[in-house]
Amino acid sequence: MACLFDSLRLGALELPNRIVMAPLTRARAGRDAVPNALMAEYYAQRASAGLIISEATGISREGLGWPNAPGLWSARQVEGWKPVADAVHKAGGRMVAQLWHMGRLVHPDLGGAQPVSSSATTAPDFAHTYEGKKSYVQARSATADDIGRIVADYAIAARNAVAAGFDGVQIHGANGYLVDQFLRDGANFRDDPYGGSIDRRLSFMSEVIEAVGAEIGIERVGIRFSPNIRVQGVEDSHPRVLFEAVARRLEKLRLPWIELREPRLPTSAGAVPTELVSPAMRPLYSGRIVINSDGYWCDAHRRLIDDEIDAVSIGRPFIANPDLVKRIALGAPLNEADSSTFYSGGAQGYVDYPELDEAQAA
Ligand SMILES: Cc1cc2nc3c(=O)[nH]c(=O)nc-3n(C[C@H](O)[C@H](O)[C@H](O)COP(=O)(O)O)c2cc1C
Repeated sequence: MACLFDSLRLGALELPNRIVMAPLTRARAGRDAVPNALMAEYYAQRASAGLIISEATGISREGLGWPNAPGLWSARQVEGWKPVADAVHKAGGRMVAQLWHMGRLVHPDLGGAQPVSSSATTAPDFAHTYEGKKSYVQARSATADDIGRIVADYAIAARNAVAAGFDGVQIHGANGYLVDQFLRDGANFRDDPYGGSIDRRLSFMSEVIEAVGAEIGIERVGIRFSPNIRVQGVEDSHPRVLFEAVARRLEKLRLPWIELREPRLPTSAGAVPTELVSPAMRPLYSGRIVINSDGYWCDAHRRLIDDEIDAVSIGRPFIANPDLVKRIALGAPLNEADSSTFYSGGAQGYVDYPELDEAQAA
């Protein structure tokens, strides 16, 4: 029986506990996507997590469509991340960078050109831009040259992550972004080596994993998926069959860990989940499985106790509770996260959530 406070090896990473901080975009980097001292303070405050997964971080200008989110393609961004990784390490933590290409979800105002995706599709709803919300524009279908360039960008960003002091990377394969746009048949309508059959829809993801693994060592690489929910218009007609194939492929690629955003119940954002896919993936994949059960982390905890998964990742409670691990250990009350400051910029709602004081802890 596994416990939240047991250690866990994820490839090259040795986690002292199984409470992982889920990736959380906080939009504090500024327009040049360069991380700063405030971000170092925020992440260092949360270093007692077994592992911190960074906020989604652009691999290229073309792939980054979220205002004030950070990047990992320029030398200045690498220099900006160094004090962040260093502060987390000095506080006793471990941290991987979540590598992000948003595909069709990049508005040209931010990406500088028509976005690229698996197919010529338009995302639903609205893009966040520096001038407020705007309709998405139709993406163009990626050419073979585009795919080669983007795969290379992932590898360069992974190399930059290690140069900046990260302990590894997580490829963002969830939430309707580019990898997800290739994986699922609700967004990939290609009829070439990158689309059509399930096997072909796995090609882009596989090339990214192989390129990143060749660059920094596969033992430092993980990936995140959101297999049983429709996110930002991306879904699949047969999630279980797709993710069984994903599990077999990841096993072949020797990827050491995955994180699934896999709710059992409808999420606060209104997504209605289909059946869990992790029980079907587990026998096919010998790597570690981290579960984010979206609003109900106690459900993931129960699955950990039952050995159905290996670790739990938690998002919003980590925003509001820098000392979340201690609070869970003590059964102490949690601060509530204020959603109005999730992306608001500045220190408020970012580095000013109170830690448990000694009187409360006693
Ligand atoms: C403010 C905010 C930012 C988020 N940013 C990211 C992100 O950068 N990358 C990602 O994969 N998921 C992101 N998510 C999703 C979370 O990682 C997580 O899956 C979701 O919040 C549900 O888990 P929770 O109930 O523990 O918060 C974000 C969610 C929130 C609320």
